[in-house]
Amino acid sequence: MKAHKCSSFTRSLAPLAVCWLILLVIIGLRIYFTAVISENNARFTAAKRNLIMKIEELNAQNQELEMDKNNLAEQIQTLETSWKKFNTSRAQWSIDEYCPTNKGKRECVPCQKGWATSGSNCYAINDPTKYENLRTWEEAQEDCSGKNSDLVVVATEAEKNYVNDNSWPKGNLIQYWIGLRAVDGKWKWIDGSDLTYNSWMSGQSAVGGYCVVSIQNQGWKSVNCTQKNRWICQKKALSV
Ligand SMILES: *[C@@H]1O[C@H](CO)[C@@H](O)[C@H](O)[C@H]1NC(C)=O
Ligand SMILES: *[C@@H]1O[C@H](CO)[C@@H](O)[C@H](O)[C@H]1NC(C)=O
Repeated sequence: MKAHKCSSFTRSLAPLAVCWLILLVIIGLRIYFTAVISENNARFTAAKRNLIMKIEELNAQNQELEMDKNNLAEQIQTLETSWKKFNTSRAQWSIDEYCPTNKGKRECVPCQKGWATSGSNCYAINDPTKYENLRTWEEAQEDCSGKNSDLVVVATEAEKNYVNDNSWPKGNLIQYWIGLRAVDGKWKWIDGSDLTYNSWMSGQSAVGGYCVVSIQNQGWKSVNCTQKNRWICQKKALSV
């Protein structure tokens, strides 16, 4: 009788225990998933914040690029306008320079007035006699550049001789800048090419801040680029 009571009591309690167990499992799962979800939420929020920042950065960059683009478009517009306006007068200038009138007849020459022709090049020998008209290497190159040319680039032995023959001395004004200077420990021509014949600068290492002069019958010498010297410009001759 007692045993029967007990077992029926146990039997009546069993479903309750199962219920409790299920409840505990549910609560456990809920706590676990809440934790996971909130952690994920935090991660998502951080990622979202990052993305928003990136988007803002990109927007700013985009705006800058847009401004640059507009500026460039404006510059191109200005260039095009001035080129269109300029072209006739430029053509006239070229014709007057290269095809001067001689006794009422135009005759075309490979080099402009004031320029000497040698091979396929034109040379301007700039030999001022006053100290204030001499130039540093940089200033000399600027002068050449303003005349649509560069300091002379010597590519052959014949050209080296030509430069030597035309480096006329006057008193102590004997040095002529050529388009050669030290760049990163190497002798480099103004057109970006390397010095072909190293013997031309033998025993003179390419020290930064040093540029090269031609001295008649003495060869080439490396001197401080800020020295004031005479200079030789060169440009391609026109084929006529
Ligand atoms: C100058 O520009 C105008 C307008 O673009 C063009 O019609 C003309 O052919 C140009 N002239 C020369 C010499 O290039
Ligand atoms: C070149 O000369 C200037 C002026 O005398 C001087 O300041 C500079 O240091 C010199 N440069 C080199 C590389 O010697």
